[in-house]
Amino acid sequence: MAYRKEYKIIARDFSRAGEASSEIKNILKQLGLDEGIVKRASIVAYEAEMNVVIHSVGGTLALEIYPEYIAISAEDNGPGIKDLDLAMKEGFSTAPDEIREMGFGAGMGLPNIKKCSDKLDISTSRNGTYLKAIIYFK
Ligand SMILES: Nc1ncnc2c1ncn2[C@@H]1O[C@H](COP(=O)(O)OP(=O)(O)O)[C@@H](O)[C@H]1O
Ligand SMILES: [Mg+2]
Repeated sequence: MAYRKEYKIIARDFSRAGEASSEIKNILKQLGLDEGIVKRASIVAYEAEMNVVIHSVGGTLALEIYPEYIAISAEDNGPGIKDLDLAMKEGFSTAPDEIREMGFGAGMGLPNIKKCSDKLDISTSRNGTYLKAIIYFK
């Protein structure tokens, strides 16, 4: 593995939410990767991070850089996604009112992650969710 950086993501910590994905964006920019690649990776990282903040009990976000692709992964410790097919649909969200009032919960995170990734794997159970997105830059 060429490079790996991991960030701890704390549930419902809106004062720091988005910091990890913004660091990831800066790392990718500094690498001089194509603007479109950086944009796609940043969307994936941000949406994955916010899902851990909003929907889980907390976890980690990680960036891995390989010679031909970037991998962004998010891992959390539950409670898992009840119906993954439904969760992948545009506009589906279980975010409660207080989260929606903050401007989140449009139900576009997972669909956008899917659109921005070349490969996406999600495994989920009551014990947690693991998401891994791959974006090729070569
Ligand atoms: N890490 C996660 N843990 C538990 N549920 C999740 C997680 N990520 C997504 N979900 C579920 O999938 C739904 C859709 O996610 P998403 O498309 O990002 O929309 P939003 O975050 O706006 O609700 C969420 O409302 C939630 O029910
Ligand atoms: Mg989301």
